[in-house]
Amino acid sequence: MDAALRSRVEERVDALPPGLRDHIHRVVEIAQELAVRHDLAPELAALGALAHDVARAMPGSELLRRAAELGLPVGLVERRVPVLLHGPVGAELLRREDGLQNSALYQAVYWHTSGHPGLDKLGRVVFLADKLDPQKIGRYPYLPLLQQLAFQDLDQAMLEFTTREITSLVAQGEMVHPAMVDTRNSLLAGHANNKPLEAERASNSQR
Ligand SMILES: [Fe+2]
Ligand SMILES: [Fe+2]
Repeated sequence: MDAALRSRVEERVDALPPGLRDHIHRVVEIAQELAVRHDLAPELAALGALAHDVARAMPGSELLRRAAELGLPVGLVERRVPVLLHGPVGAELLRREDGLQNSALYQAVYWHTSGHPGLDKLGRVVFLADKLDPQKIGRYPYLPLLQQLAFQDLDQAMLEFTTREITSLVAQGEMVHPAMVDTRNSLLAGHANNKPLEAERASNSQR
């Protein structure tokens, strides 16, 4: 594990508002538990979880500005809901400023909000650990079921979450990020993780 990267991520997390910091530390714990259960290096899962929300405290206007500066794609959904850019902006800042070279780690941070069909085990663990923060029970009342599924089968848990989240967003008249729809479609087709992410975001993830 890259100790220098880890300490830079820790510095970023220490500078975040206390509530967000507490969320991140709970996600680290959950990600480590999921990693142990699913044969993933717990230190890697912990670092992914520690890094996932480093850009979460930035206001929407700053996320839009930074995304433009960093050359990140900004679609219709991100324009309407700029907070969705905190994963991509965080991943790109870590890559450019903190020496993040591990592609799986980059993708895990980048896609932790919407999901992506190509997310590997680390990406799925970070995605689910973020949703399994016990304090999100108000937002996700089905959290106990999701937790049970996540410890059994990461893909089943992701299918359950994306199905419920898409349903909820549609019911509220909100937009749904295309990557979340793609993720669910891919899980339904049983093709999750068949398409490596490297090809798609090679320019951003190259070491
Ligand atoms: Fe987040
Ligand atoms: Fe989070």
